[in-house]
Amino acid sequence: MVVRRVEKSRESVASILMVERDAFMETLQNRWSVPYHIRHGRVYGLFVDGVMKGFTIFLRSWDDPGIAYLVQIAVQKDYQGNGGGTYLLQESLRSLIREGITAVTLTVDPRNARALHIYTEKMGFRIAEYRQDEYGEGTDRYYLRLDLRDWSGPGNAP
Ligand SMILES: CC(C)(COP(=O)(O)OP(=O)(O)OC[C@H]1O[C@@H](n2cnc3c(N)ncnc32)[C@H](O)[C@@H]1OP(=O)(O)O)[C@@H](O)C(=O)NCCC(=O)NCCS
Repeated sequence: MVVRRVEKSRESVASILMVERDAFMETLQNRWSVPYHIRHGRVYGLFVDGVMKGFTIFLRSWDDPGIAYLVQIAVQKDYQGNGGGTYLLQESLRSLIREGITAVTLTVDPRNARALHIYTEKMGFRIAEYRQDEYGEGTDRYYLRLDLRDWSGPGNAP
């Protein structure tokens, strides 16, 4: 398993869209959004034998350029549960630290126990807010934040 920054190509865009459609019930990305995320944000891929099995997408905050927002993380269904999502997020965060990012934020469905386990128990994210109706009526989200200034990787959560 290898994590590396994704370059813009027809194949990489297609792979991201394919993984996303496989992992989520609803889609967020399309052929317009993926290229600008790759070029203007940070997109990392989880590769197994050269094949993309997962990806992360980050935006840098306009108000505080030290903060990155995790737009999305997904691992293809047939590869979930192999430690890939944890490794992908860990290596993405390490890469962001090398670029001077000092904190990462995200929103997550309060019912997404698996994602919450990775974020809070493994990575050390803290629930900073409960955002009611964040994505429309009845679609609430936790807003999480991880300080990266003295972060040394998964397992250092209290
Ligand atoms: C969330 C996601 C990226 C995780 O990727 P993954 O490769 O399955 O994750 P890993 O195998 O590294 O880790 C899964 C962890 O969750 C735990 N887990 C699995 N199901 C769980 C559940 N129902 N409740 C709590 N923890 C659970 C596993 O035990 C494991 O933790 P451990 O290593 O401490 O045992 C992936 O499942 C996915 O793409 N899901 C659909 C999209 C999604 O929900 N994205 C996040 C939106 S915020």
